[in-house]
Amino acid sequence: MRKTWLPVGLLWVAYTILLVVLVRYVNVLPNQWAEEAHVVDEAFMLLMYLGSPVMAMILAVMTWGVIAWRSDGAEREDGPNHHTNRAVVTTWLVLTSALAIGVVINPGFVGLAEIRGEPSSDYVIGIEASQFFWEITYPNGATAFDELVIPAHKRVRYDVNSTDVVHSFWIPAFRVKIDAVPGLTTQLYITATNVGTLEDDHNLRIQCAELCGAGHASMALPVRVVSDAEWTEYIASIAGSG
Ligand code: CUA
Repeated sequence: MRKTWLPVGLLWVAYTILLVVLVRYVNVLPNQWAEEAHVVDEAFMLLMYLGSPVMAMILAVMTWGVIAWRSDGAEREDGPNHHTNRAVVTTWLVLTSALAIGVVINPGFVGLAEIRGEPSSDYVIGIEASQFFWEITYPNGATAFDELVIPAHKRVRYDVNSTDVVHSFWIPAFRVKIDAVPGLTTQLYITATNVGTLEDDHNLRIQCAELCGAGHASMALPVRVVSDAEWTEYIASIAGSG
């Protein structure tokens, strides 16, 4: 047994360091286009760090297993039974439970509260989901089906509805997401931080995030973030045609 603990322990430490370095220096997250995005990204990074030693432990045991129990084609007998080590099991249960409850509270509840923020907004935009398209309703009553245009640096409340089944209103560049439920209005607050279009970042789009039928994957709509003045001009220009 003793001969196993040391190499597995060393491998565990080595893999943990490797994974933590990868998490720290390989940027896997897309660009942020909203104030709320950092909360989600920070939670994601925290879970990646917390998951590193877990992943490392699995890799260490597997690596050592391949090295130490290599059969070279010879028949091998089963080893002796191992008995449960109560102290290890108890410590493991207490630690992992505490950790799980910890992340549920923060960033779980704390992060959600931060994303929601104060229930105040500069504008309210209606989002109505149907199989398989989005209808946008602007504060002046103008409607659109071809794109969502929003003002940068303004806090917008999205009132989200559905006409048929459950969809999910998600803009990957903003990270935040909320279900679109028939007969219910759900709300989301987003403050876009930069001017940009789908051409700048393919994550600047509404993407349905709840399997809603055959057209689910194509239920997307470009998002264009413009200046406040440009936005006011835009919604006035489409008001007549709607
Ligand atoms: Cu709508 Cu998936």
